[in-house]
Amino acid sequence: MGATLLDAVSSGFENLDSGIGVYAPDAEGYTLFREIFDPIIEDYHGGFKPTDKHPETDFGDLSSFVDLDPENKYVISTRVRCGRSIAEFPFNPCMTEEQYVSMENQVSSILSKLDGELKGKYFPLTGMDKETQDMLVDDHFLFKEGDRFLQAANACRFWPKGRGIYLNDEKTFLVWCGEEDHLRIISMQKGGDLKAIYSRLVNGVREIEKEIKFARDDRLGWLTFCPTNLGTTIRASVHIKLPKLGGDRKKLEEIASRHNLQVRGTRGEHTESEGGVYDISNKRRLGLTEREAVMEMQQGILELIKHEESM
Ligand code: ARG
Repeated sequence: MGATLLDAVSSGFENLDSGIGVYAPDAEGYTLFREIFDPIIEDYHGGFKPTDKHPETDFGDLSSFVDLDPENKYVISTRVRCGRSIAEFPFNPCMTEEQYVSMENQVSSILSKLDGELKGKYFPLTGMDKETQDMLVDDHFLFKEGDRFLQAANACRFWPKGRGIYLNDEKTFLVWCGEEDHLRIISMQKGGDLKAIYSRLVNGVREIEKEIKFARDDRLGWLTFCPTNLGTTIRASVHIKLPKLGGDRKKLEEIASRHNLQVRGTRGEHTESEGGVYDISNKRRLGLTEREAVMEMQQGILELIKHEESM
């Protein structure tokens, strides 16, 4: 699609504090520039080798998931998301203005057919009044505008065209359109009921998949713009208060990494912790099934809570 190696690496060149620094300009980028992507993928996803193959999608037996914190002592909220790229479109740096508009039309019309607990409304960023925008930002539903990593990756062109957010009536099921990935499908609510939250996500993904064909690679699974999200694309996270463990960040990081968890600050990626609240999630998304990725988070968080209680 005409992308160059410079398109793949420009975000890291401009942001020397990047943890990863590369994005695939289109699906083919992962094979065309495999010399740069493969070692990063192997390092990030816990040793996924160039000869390894991502397994088939398997959401698993939903009854094997639990409420992580039934007494509501530690977990403030829980979120599970996945990303999807629509097969007919390139990734951000190669998208034309017309493609953004056509993607949004397609996505919003499909979402408008959802019903039951997924029923809701699509809010396009284009023409959104300030009041609605502030409300969505304050409630932490809407993605941030002007992310410097995405900007340098040429991922914010024609903004706000093609960008928007779908919210169900309960505000527990969301779909982002045109942010980092074509689609981010998100299930979240207060507390630690991972079973309910993950089940809602699986339900939503299955409904949307009936209507849109998503880009999937035999080796890398579901394709995303950033190599950290390949494979299952699943990030299962909690906002969690760990006052004792958080006082010893080194120990927290050490236990977390033993369970393949990633610790972020209160406001997510590239932020610090405020008041001992952390955003903790599974780190690996590639080379394991959806069930295993979410289970990795469940086990790790239960373990962290156990440590916190023993301190
Ligand atoms: N490119 C950014 C970095 O290297 C983000 C990497 C992972 N996060 C993401 N949202 N894709 O730090």
